[in-house]
Amino acid sequence: AFDVKLASSGQVYAIPPGRTVIQVLSEHGVDVPVSCEQGICGTCLTRVLEGEPDHRDQYLTDEERAANDQFTPCCSRAKSALLVLDL
Ligand code: FES
Repeated sequence: AFDVKLASSGQVYAIPPGRTVIQVLSEHGVDVPVSCEQGICGTCLTRVLEGEPDHRDQYLTDEERAANDQFTPCCSRAKSALLVLDL
């Protein structure tokens, strides 16, 4: 499990195993645009301000992954305990 924090509101949400960032946020009324929900299209791409994503998508290039400044919340997770998102 890991936490995501939204930069705009300061709200922190726990993401348990088996649930995606998108699922947890939408339950709390935070809607991120999605399409494929499988890490292919890049529609959900979100800027990461702090923390290290665990990229599970097939959309970003290796260079983009290594930069740690964006991720696909429909499927990707976190290696760090907290991700701060530009939402
Ligand atoms: Fe397609 Fe996330 S919705 S990559």
